Amino acid sequence: ARLVVLISGSGSNLQALIDACADPAYGAEVVAVGADRDGIEGLNRAERAGIPTFVHKVRDFAARSDWDSAMTETVAGYEPDLVVSAGFLKLLGDGFLERFDGRYINTHNSLLPSFPGMRGPAAALEYGVKVTGATLFLCDAGVDTGQIIAQVAVPVLDDDSLETLTERIKVAERQQLVDTVGAMVRGGWRVEGRRVVVG
Ligand code: GRF
Repeated sequence: ARLVVLISGSGSNLQALIDACADPAYGAEVVAVGADRDGIEGLNRAERAGIPTFVHKVRDFAARSDWDSAMTETVAGYEPDLVVSAGFLKLLGDGFLERFDGRYINTHNSLLPSFPGMRGPAAALEYGVKVTGATLFLCDAGVDTGQIIAQVAVPVLDDDSLETLTERIKVAERQQLVDTVGAMVRGGWRVEGRRVVVG
């Protein structure tokens, strides 16, 4: 299966996918990595792995819809079976969502629907929950509102700092991403209302 991965940052989730794809039994290949900014470690990771990259910055387009069209056309050109947003910090518009309907997934660092948005671990710490985690879901037009594919729970410890909690979540999140994408590409998935059934 062909994966296109979208990133905005360090790309540790991308790296986990690249590493998993090194095993032919995994059943997938990262065919391109796209970003909305340059100078990020995730792009270096892709280049080191010999994976083609592209960068479309919103500010280089006259209108957001033009950026959206460019993202849609560039990603479509790689003919992905699955588009994975892994720390990609932009919402894509209807054109993109329709083109990749049911095939565009995102990973978030909380147990949705709790703590959507940019501050997942911080919001969990501030609220005082004892369990948080990570969620893999199908993207829709909302912020972290799509149908849930997989979730993993992560304990919040009494002496956690933002850094220790964020890192504990990222470890579980990476494993979930690799395991679930693998299961999806090898066994397929289907959407039944709010439910996503893998395999
Ligand atoms: C992930 O924890 C994701 O949930 C959050 O940002 C992180 C991305 O990290 N939105 P990386 O770029 O994959 O290292």
